[in-house]
Amino acid sequence: MNKITVIGAGTMGNGIAHVFAQHGFEVALMDSSVKSLERALQTIGTNLDRMIKKEQIPPGERQKILDRIRTSTEIGSAVEGATLVVEAIPEVPELKHSLFSQLDALCPPETILASNTSSISISKLAAATRRPEKVLGMHFMNPVPVMQLVEVIKGYSTSEETGQAVMELARKLEKTPVLVNDYPGFIANRILMPMINEAIYSLHEGVAGVEAIDTVMKLGMSHPMGPLKLADFIGLDVCLSILQVLYDGFGNPKYAPCPLLVNMVTAGRLGVKSGTGFYSYERGVKEAVVARDFAGKTV
Ligand SMILES: NC(=O)c1ccc[n+]([C@@H]2O[C@H](COP(=O)([O-])OP(=O)(O)OC[C@H]3O[C@@H](n4cnc5c(N)ncnc54)[C@H](O)[C@@H]3O)[C@@H](O)[C@H]2O)c1
Repeated sequence: MNKITVIGAGTMGNGIAHVFAQHGFEVALMDSSVKSLERALQTIGTNLDRMIKKEQIPPGERQKILDRIRTSTEIGSAVEGATLVVEAIPEVPELKHSLFSQLDALCPPETILASNTSSISISKLAAATRRPEKVLGMHFMNPVPVMQLVEVIKGYSTSEETGQAVMELARKLEKTPVLVNDYPGFIANRILMPMINEAIYSLHEGVAGVEAIDTVMKLGMSHPMGPLKLADFIGLDVCLSILQVLYDGFGNPKYAPCPLLVNMVTAGRLGVKSGTGFYSYERGVKEAVVARDFAGKTV
């Protein structure tokens, strides 16, 4: 596998293109938006500069890595010759289903089709193609160049061979892949999201305030960031939609999203991206100090 196509050049897609190019792969990065492609190349350049400063890559590598990335807004030419396509478009089931069916029509039968989805069923995406044995999840973590894990998800019909090929590929990126089966939330979000939800319930029930909850988990459990701040970074709307996938998928009330989370999303308090979540980011993330409960009281 030496030619990879990445579809979607947003937060995740640019990072995925970056790590493949850094490890010697030819990358076609495709997005329907020219602006996204321009931003992606800028972000990759900035991230490479940071890596050079930290002496993680030699300065001479920068241009070589960038030269391995070809951008395109045209899907047909982008997938030409690709042995693997990694999809990183928004988490909207209809969008992804239709893209997988299009990719199936465009790519030769041996091409592996992977999705970076956080929560959409891989078996369902596979069912939109005529090659379900060659469809799987390749769930990178944000920020991709930094995070070690790749959760590799086998759908109901994914072949052993496809799973192993992608595990091997992730190792070539110097990542640590973990193979899991296709159930709602896979492993990462099945465990992370109920923890975040429980932190929100604890706040909602007045057990403790925002900073107290985060401090307990940071200092008591050695988490690098408390669950409420992490939720702000992920986006409260994203947390809510993943919890809904878990709730619908398992039909178990233990996954029911906390009403405070639902209220905050309804009110447009989405975390870092909207400027306010459990913390206020209006003065920049680094200065986030204000933690208010939903009633507006400082906690
Ligand atoms: N952001 C995260 O922290 C994170 C972490 C893990 C997994 N994910 C998953 O990764 C995927 C992408 O998330 P993101 O945060 O990078 O999204 P994003 O919104 O930052 O980027 C999505 C990109 O896809 C492009 N796009 C939309 N429709 C397209 C189409 N039909 N063809 C080509 N390009 C199209 C958009 O222009 C945009 O540039 C989602 O499935 C998400 O659940 C996100």
